[in-house]
Amino acid sequence: MTVNQALYLTKHKVSAANIEQPSSEAELLLCYVLGISKAELYSEPERVLSPAEIRKLQHLVQRRLHLEPMAYILECCEFYGIGFYVNQDVLIPRPETELLVEEAIEFAHQDFPLGRQLIVADIGTGSGAIAVSLAVALPQAVIYATDISASALRVARANCRRHKVDERVTLLCGNLLEPLPGPVDMVVANLPYVRSCELKTLSQEIVTFEPMTALAGGEDGLDRIRALLHQLPEKVYAGGCLLLEVGQGQAEAVRSLISSYFPQANMSSIPDLSGIDRAIKVTL
Ligand SMILES: C[S@@+](CC[C@H](N)C(=O)[O-])C[C@H]1O[C@@H](n2cnc3c(N)ncnc32)[C@H](O)[C@@H]1O
Repeated sequence: MTVNQALYLTKHKVSAANIEQPSSEAELLLCYVLGISKAELYSEPERVLSPAEIRKLQHLVQRRLHLEPMAYILECCEFYGIGFYVNQDVLIPRPETELLVEEAIEFAHQDFPLGRQLIVADIGTGSGAIAVSLAVALPQAVIYATDISASALRVARANCRRHKVDERVTLLCGNLLEPLPGPVDMVVANLPYVRSCELKTLSQEIVTFEPMTALAGGEDGLDRIRALLHQLPEKVYAGGCLLLEVGQGQAEAVRSLISSYFPQANMSSIPDLSGIDRAIKVTL
C-alpha cells in the first residue's frame, strides 16, 4: 500500500464514522505512523508502507473509530504555542484555558513589584499545561503545581522535562493548596467544574476517554472551587492574586461565592473571544 492509498482509505473510514475533518485526521495519523511532516507526506505519495506501518496505522484508525480523541492517539496537544505530551491520565488542555495564562503573565508584568521573585501555584495542573507555559514565559518565577492524581503528575513531570523547566516547577501531589510549603503571590486554577447533571450530556469522546477527576465538580459544579476558597487565606500573600477558570454560565455564582469568602477583594470577570466569561481574577 502506498502513502496515497493509505491516505485515501483512512480518510474514507474516518468519514464513514461521521468524524469531522476526515482529510486532516487521515494526514495526522499517517504522519504520526511514518514519523514525517505533512510536507514530507505529500512529497512521497508513492512511498510503500511496510507491513509494520500498515498494522500500526490500522490500530490507530480503530482507536479513532472508537472516538478516542486525536490528542491521546498522537500523544500530543498544543497549548499556548507549546507542544505537550498527553495521555488518558490527564485532561486535554483546552484553548480557552490560555486566557488564564495570558492574565497570569499580565499580573506578573504589570501588577507585581519589580525586584521580587514571583511565586506561583497552578492548582490541578493535569498535564502541566499552565505551569509549564508560565515557567517558559516567566523565567524568574518559582512555580508550584499540585494535583490529586499521581498519574497526572507523571505526565506533568514529562512535560516539565521536555520543556526544560523541571528545576523551576515543583510538582506536589495532594488536595488543592494543601501540599504548598507556604504562601504564594498568585494562584492559577482550572479545576473540575462540570455539574453532576451535565456529565451525561458531554460528548462521547470526553465521557469515555477523559478522566472524571478532571471534570466532575459536584452538584453545582463548584465543589472544588469552594474548597479552594476555603483553603486560600493561609496560602496567598496580601495583595496576591487568584485566577480561576469557570464554566459557561458559572461566573455569577463563582463571584458571589468569592464575595462571601473575601468581601474586600477586587474582582473582575474575563471574557473569552466569544464574549463568554471564562475566568475570574481576584486581587486579595
Ligand atoms: C480541569 S482539569 C485541568 C488540568 C489542567 N490544569 C488544564 O488546564 O488542562 C482539573 C485537574 O484538577 C485535578 N484535581 C481534581 N481534584 C483535585 C483536588 N482536590 N486537588 C488537586 N487537584 C485536583 C484533576 O486531577 C485534573 O488534573
